[in-house]
Amino acid sequence: RPDGELPLKGLAVLVTAGPTQEPLDPVRFLTNHSTGKMGYALAEQARDLGAQVTLASGPVALDAPYGVDVVDVTTARDMFDVVTSRFSDTDITVMAAAVGDFRPVGRSGIELELTSNPDILAWAGEHKRPDQTLCGFAMETRDLEANATKKLNGKHCDMLVANNLRTPGAGFAADTNVVTVLTPGETADRPSIERWSKMGKDALAKRILVKLAAMRADGERR
Ligand code: CTP
Repeated sequence: RPDGELPLKGLAVLVTAGPTQEPLDPVRFLTNHSTGKMGYALAEQARDLGAQVTLASGPVALDAPYGVDVVDVTTARDMFDVVTSRFSDTDITVMAAAVGDFRPVGRSGIELELTSNPDILAWAGEHKRPDQTLCGFAMETRDLEANATKKLNGKHCDMLVANNLRTPGAGFAADTNVVTVLTPGETADRPSIERWSKMGKDALAKRILVKLAAMRADGERR
């Protein structure tokens, strides 16, 4: 690429970020500890690398980044609707949201009845065209590489960024992250695995996006 040209210039990037909230009644909800920092860093870095960025954001305490089309959502189903309606116009999709796997459907006495939410990343993997690039995240507490390999393959991702919740400097509230990055390898059970050292979420976001852009330029897709 010519010097000075931005690696994501002319590309549409869709990022999911933050937690989802699943209402239990008019005043209570189920949610998680996601702060949205990683997803917002991805959206800002993608913008700075030249992309047109859409950010599907669950409820977070962060300011909307300038120059990014922010679509606020509450539930997993809201986020699913945003992604499914925009996906075909997207070149690179990065799913950093901590989507609630379940939502309440009813209560009997003190028992709460739950049902499964749609898996947005799995949907995108199923509907992805060969010219589209898909990156998922995974938070693991054990067997990180084995579980992340299953997610990379099972959800048809071009990249999976995994972090261990038990590693110091990784996880939701931190400004840093320590990740293992998986991309498809020679065979499905042997993905290419890179272990990146601890870095700030902005630097990590940029490195992920530059790697995705390089993979597209090399025609490396699954
Ligand atoms: N994800 C999603 N929709 C869901 C659940 C997860 O899009 N309903 C995405 C997340 O944004 C993330 C990836 O899937 O990119 C992995 O999320 P994670 O919660 O680690 O995976 P699960 O599929 O829930 O697997 P498990 O709970 O078995 O680890």
